[in-house]
Amino acid sequence: MNILVTGGAGYIGSITTIALIAAGHRPVILDNLHNASAGVIERIAEVAGTRPAFVHGDIRDRALLDALLVREQIDAVIHFAGLKAVGESVAQPLSYFDNNVHGTLVLLAAMQAAGVRTLVFSSSATVYGDAPELPLREDAPTSATNPYGRSKLMVEQVLADLARSDPAWSLTALRYFNPVGAHPSGRLGEDPQGVPNNLMPYIAQVAVGRREFLSIYGDDYPTPDGTGVRDYIHVMDLADGHLAALDHGHGRPGLHVFNLGTGAGVSVREMLAAFGAACGHALPHRIVARRPGDVAACWADPTRAREVLGWQASRDLRTMCEDSWRWQSNNPRGYAA
Ligand code: NAD
Ligand code: UD1
Repeated sequence: MNILVTGGAGYIGSITTIALIAAGHRPVILDNLHNASAGVIERIAEVAGTRPAFVHGDIRDRALLDALLVREQIDAVIHFAGLKAVGESVAQPLSYFDNNVHGTLVLLAAMQAAGVRTLVFSSSATVYGDAPELPLREDAPTSATNPYGRSKLMVEQVLADLARSDPAWSLTALRYFNPVGAHPSGRLGEDPQGVPNNLMPYIAQVAVGRREFLSIYGDDYPTPDGTGVRDYIHVMDLADGHLAALDHGHGRPGLHVFNLGTGAGVSVREMLAAFGAACGHALPHRIVARRPGDVAACWADPTRAREVLGWQASRDLRTMCEDSWRWQSNNPRGYAA
């Protein structure tokens, strides 16, 4: 299939693009490079052996989308493009609603006009809000605790209404848990701008000497070792999940919602120790106050994806850390190096 990959120069989109090429699809990347570097396209070409078509542009540009969908004879869209930093979303809510919600509306309207009716959307476990019960199943109540989360929830609601309006639409929302790791080649991975907000990229920068120590946000949670527990999923497993969702969704009416997680929780201390083992030295840390808004624990029930998509995560914590370390140590300054 000819697949439009919005945000395909980003962390998850670039690695999924490689998986699409390997599976025989023809991806076309649309990215405004707000949070990515053009050099990523070269890396994809190098690893995949085929250069994906790349359009430097914005999903909010309707004229561009109209032309692109027809010219490239797009069959389906995987929609990664968006902003994703929770703290920034609190400070700049309008940017988040503009990029994530308005941007998706423009994309969907262009798809409707061009007769493209298959979409796979990057949602997030953040739509579960403050989950009362674990593990999280797809039918758990949803809510938002910040503008980023609300933007994902709003898009899911739009998709549900759209699916109800016309059975020609095949829409899939993938609720990612905590994506980590890198492509095993060491050529593509996560390259956050500024100080990383998230655990794994922060630890990786401590390991490579860019940061002095990890601040552990609280060790008095009601978890086995007192630190926060999350469901970390290897980005390569996530990429495979998109292929499975595309195969399942194409031509199948409705809104299909799946958790993409492993079903297992890992604590901050466990992650730090596993990364230390991967990079060959213990990593310095300090215990500091809890981060406001954090929950003690969050992990998926991935049963639906296994039963319906035939997909399950296969890469373990050690592989996540080893692949992340290969990427970070070969590219200490990310794509700028
Ligand atoms: P990323 O920032 O690396 O990738 C997003 C890409 O979209 C970037 O390359 C950026 O330049 C591009 N982009 C942003 N706004 C755009 C616009 N208006 N037009 C065109 N391109 C635009 O992020 P990622 O980690 O690869 O995440 C991909 C998607 O998955 C996002 O929608 C994110 O919200 C979602 N998600 C990510 C995580 C995570 O922890 N990484 C977790 C859950 C959900
Ligand atoms: C983040 C996002 C959330 C998103 C989720 C999945 C934020 C605030 N939230 O949350 O919207 O749905 O990823 O991608 O970005 N930790 C430390 N020290 C650090 C960084 C993190 O101790 O320097 C701890 C946290 O307290 C938490 C765990 O590590 O217990 C994971 O944190 P993080 O990687 O930010 O992920 P989430 O909190 O799940």
